[in-house]
Amino acid sequence: MTTPITSSTAPSSTDASSSATATSTAAQSHPSGEKEWWRTAVIYQVYPRSFADGNGDGVGDLPGITAHLPALRTLGVDAIWLSPFMTSPQRDAGYDVADYRDVDPLFGTLDDFDRMLATAHELGLRVIVDLVPNHTSSEHAWFKAALASAEGSEAREHYYFRDGKGENGDLPPNNWESVFGGPAWTRITNPDGTPGQWYLHLFDTSQPDLNWADQWVWEQFRGILRFWLDRGVDGFRIDVAHGMVKVAGLPDYTPAEHEGSLSGASVTLEPDISDEPPGAPFWGQEGGHEIFRDWHNVLAEYDGDRALCGEAWVSPPAKLARYVRPDEMQQTFNFSYLETPWNADALHKVIDDSLEAFGEVGAPSTWVLSNHDVVRHATRLGFSEESPQGHGLGPKTPFRPDAVLGLRRARAATTLMLALPGSAYLYQGEELGLPEVIDLPDSARQDPTWFRTNGERYGRDGCRVPIPWTADGPSYGFNETGASWLPQPAEWAKLARDVEATDPQSTLSLYERLLSEREARSLGAGTLDWVDGLGDEVVAFRNGDVTVIANLGQASVPLPDGDVIVSSEPLEGRELPVDTTVWLAF
Ligand code: GLC
Repeated sequence: MTTPITSSTAPSSTDASSSATATSTAAQSHPSGEKEWWRTAVIYQVYPRSFADGNGDGVGDLPGITAHLPALRTLGVDAIWLSPFMTSPQRDAGYDVADYRDVDPLFGTLDDFDRMLATAHELGLRVIVDLVPNHTSSEHAWFKAALASAEGSEAREHYYFRDGKGENGDLPPNNWESVFGGPAWTRITNPDGTPGQWYLHLFDTSQPDLNWADQWVWEQFRGILRFWLDRGVDGFRIDVAHGMVKVAGLPDYTPAEHEGSLSGASVTLEPDISDEPPGAPFWGQEGGHEIFRDWHNVLAEYDGDRALCGEAWVSPPAKLARYVRPDEMQQTFNFSYLETPWNADALHKVIDDSLEAFGEVGAPSTWVLSNHDVVRHATRLGFSEESPQGHGLGPKTPFRPDAVLGLRRARAATTLMLALPGSAYLYQGEELGLPEVIDLPDSARQDPTWFRTNGERYGRDGCRVPIPWTADGPSYGFNETGASWLPQPAEWAKLARDVEATDPQSTLSLYERLLSEREARSLGAGTLDWVDGLGDEVVAFRNGDVTVIANLGQASVPLPDGDVIVSSEPLEGRELPVDTTVWLAF
C-alpha cells in the first residue's frame, strides 16, 4: 500500500516532503478471527518486593499490591504480571522457589493472593504469575530428597547430578559457566562427609536445574499449572523458557565472541543464543517446544483465554517466533526490540522483522523496553557511548549516563512503542520516568551476580529499588515505616506518583494519555504501514487513524498535517524536536 502524506510546512534541510510515501509491512494475521485479550494487552510488570509494602518490613507484599491496584487501573493497563512471590529463601529475589504452591511469608499468604486476584478482576485487570520451571531452590523438598538419596536414584534423576571429571572426580563434569558468573556446577558432600557428585545450576548454586528429560518433572508442573489456574490466574510468564532442555550428554561449550552478552555494551544478563551452529547446548533447544505444547493443552482445559508468555532470550525474531506457534505459548518477550539502540534504521528493521516473524505464525508481536533484569531505559538511552551495562551500573562504572537525554529518549521510545500493533509490557516505575539507581552502596547490593563475581559485575539491583508513591512520608509512601530493602535516592520525591499525577507534562501523565488513546483507537489490534520521506533519522508509520513520527536525528523535522494527539515533548510550532515522538490524527 502507498499512502501520500502532506507536510504543512515547506520541506527544510531535513527531507520531509509533500510527496512522501508509505510502504506497507506484513500485518499480523489472526487466523481464528478471535480477539483474545493477550493479542493487544498492555501488561504491567509488578515486582512485588518493590511495589508497595503493606506491613512495613521494607519488602513489598501482596496486601500492598492489592491496595494500589486502583492506581494501575487509572494508569490504563489491561493486565499485571507478578514476579515470583512463592515460598523461597530469596537467594535470587524469589526466582529460587522452594514451594510452587504457596506464598512466601515475606509477601503474605494464599488468602492474600486470592484477595489480590479478586480485586484485580473486579477492576478489570488480568493477572499473570511467574512460573520458574528451569530450576528449583536448593531448599525445595525435591532437591533435599535428591541430596539424601543415593547416586543413580530416581530422586537424583529429577535434577542433573553427574560424577566429576579427573582422578578423584574433583573437576566439574563440563565447562559450562553460570549466567551469574563462575562455574555452573557445584559438588555436594555425601551424608558420610565424603565429596560426592556434582549438580548443574545455570544460575546461582541455590538454583539447581531440573531435568526435563524426566517425565516425573513434567507431571509435577502440570499439577502446578492447574493449582494456579484453578485459583483463577489468567496466565503465566515462563522464566528461562529457552533454557529448560539441554543437549543430551551435556557437551562442553565455548561461546563465540559475539555470543554471551555478559560483556560489551549489551544490556542483558543473559547470553543471546546465536542462530549459527553449534549454539549453546543449554539455550534454545528444540526439545523445549514439546513442553510448551503440553502446557498449551493444560491451559486449553480452562476458559477465559489463559496465556503463556515465554522469557526466551533467543534471536533473531524468526527463531523466537517458534515459541508462539499456534499450539505453543501465546506470547514471548521481544528482547531483540529491547536491545535495539536508539537508531532509526535499527528500529525500522526490528519492527519489520518482528511483525513478519510473529505474523507468520499468527501470534501478536510483543514490545518491551524495561524489566527487572536490565538497566532501566530512562538510563540506558542516556548513554552516548558504549558502556558495560550488561554488568549493571554502579559507582565505579567508568561511564555516566546523561539523565536528561535518557529520560527524553525514554519518553519518545515509549510513545513509539505504545503505538505499535500487538501487546506491550511495562515495568513498574517506568511510568514515573525512574532512572536506574547507580549509586547503591556495595553493602546494600543483593543480586547474586554481585556476589558470584566478587563485585566485578554490579548486577540488577539498580532497577529494583522500591518505587515512590508520595513525595512526603517515609520511603515515599512505599510503606509507613520508612524501611526499604534497597535504599531510595534522595531525589525521588519529584518523581513520586502524587507529584506526577498533578503535572500534565509529567511522564505519568504522558503514559496515561498514551494508554487511553491506544485503547480508544484500538492501536493494539491495528496494522502498521510505514511512512517514508521524512528523513533517514525518522521512524514514521501509520496505524489506523494515527500517524506516528519519531525524530531520532540531530535537527527538528517539519510535521505533516494532522491534529496532535499526544507528543512526548512540547512541539516547537509545527516542528518535531529531536528525540521526540508525536501521534497525529490522520
Ligand atoms: C530470569 C529472571 C531473572 C532470574 C533468572 C533465574 O531471567 O528474569 O530475574 O534471575 O531467570 O531464575
